[in-house]
Amino acid sequence: MNILVTGGAGFIGSNFVRFVLKRDQNVSVTNLDKLTYAGNLENLFDVEEKFSERYNFHHGDICDKLLVKRLLKENDIDCIVNFAAETHVDRSIIDSDAFIRTNVIGTKALLDAALDADLRLFIQISTDEVYGSLGQDGKFCEESGIDPNSPYSASKAAADHLSRAYFKTYKLPVIITRCSNNYGPYQFPEKLIPLLITNAIENKPLPIYGAGKNIRDWIYADDHSSAIEMILNSGIPGEVYNIGGDCELENLTVAEMVLDLLAKPRSLITFVKDRPGHDLRYAMDFTKLKTELGWSPAMRFETGLKQTIDWYLKNQDWVARVFTKEYLDYYEQNYGSR
Ligand code: NAD
Ligand code: DAU
Repeated sequence: MNILVTGGAGFIGSNFVRFVLKRDQNVSVTNLDKLTYAGNLENLFDVEEKFSERYNFHHGDICDKLLVKRLLKENDIDCIVNFAAETHVDRSIIDSDAFIRTNVIGTKALLDAALDADLRLFIQISTDEVYGSLGQDGKFCEESGIDPNSPYSASKAAADHLSRAYFKTYKLPVIITRCSNNYGPYQFPEKLIPLLITNAIENKPLPIYGAGKNIRDWIYADDHSSAIEMILNSGIPGEVYNIGGDCELENLTVAEMVLDLLAKPRSLITFVKDRPGHDLRYAMDFTKLKTELGWSPAMRFETGLKQTIDWYLKNQDWVARVFTKEYLDYYEQNYGSR
């Protein structure tokens, strides 16, 4: 199988590329990534070394239809997995231009380019956030309404609608996957878990929005990869698959666990102004993936969190390098000094 992975230098994309190349000798990966602040070729140094025969990288933009068409042809691609996106909700609240460009126009460019190729499958990597927010009860299933609340989730929902429309209209073999919150190695430390870990290591305050009562359903990145691998092999075009971790936790609990594992005082927790339009709770019903394809998440949260903390402890030079001047300027302008 020859896969075009987009956004493969980001957090989930790089974990997926490593996962799938290790697991299946018959897989080759072409990685197309624009290398935004969130994309980092360092995330793939070991992959370049170990899998040079089955892996190649192209620096470029998914909005560039001609480039995508050329890559599809030259690499004899039969599947596309589209991870490329602007992904941070807080950034989308500050300015959503890049989100509309990459997540909507970029996804459309990929879908258009795919129409001319002889593809077996196009997997659009979406998110539970397109469903909006839950109250205290219930879970999102594939039939739940699309009700996005942030500019980020609205842009991902638009991409989902386009993907579905290309299946219905042009019979492009598209599958949409919607996953809950990922954590693990190589995550840019602006997202909750790596932010908590890196701040705690440096004895800096851990900023918790509002009262810390918002709930996310956490999944280890490798479990997300195993779900995608299963869907690549056995998923049905035209279908939507929810992916979840069965691990609902309040943000405050996650912060306390990080501090306890690092033996740091809970007094580092600092309650800050809430995120506008902050979704209260996400929880995924992934019965369909479980019963139809036999997938379940394998990693227990405590174990995955420990492994993630160990990774950040061992890779503090990686952390120092991703905090570029550009990122620190952006941070200071919006949140004060780090
Ligand atoms: P990330 O921000 O870590 O990485 C995104 C990658 O996309 C980066 O390498 C970046 O350089 C690349 N990129 C951005 N714009 C591009 C463009 N125009 N052309 C080519 N490459 C471009 O993101 P992530 O957290 O790894 O998320 C990957 C995908 O999974 C996204 O589609 C996201 O919506 C989805 N998702 C993420 C989560 C999560 O918890 N992080 C959960 C569910 C779904
Ligand atoms: O649910 C899937 C989504 O998960 C993905 O689609 C997004 O790409 C990904 O960024 C993530 O979105 P969230 O907004 O849930 O993730 P984030 O890490 O930004 O925030 C997680 C929770 O923690 C959320 O309730 C907001 C809160 N938070 C976040 C930050 C950055 C804080 O309390 N303090 C913070 O400093």
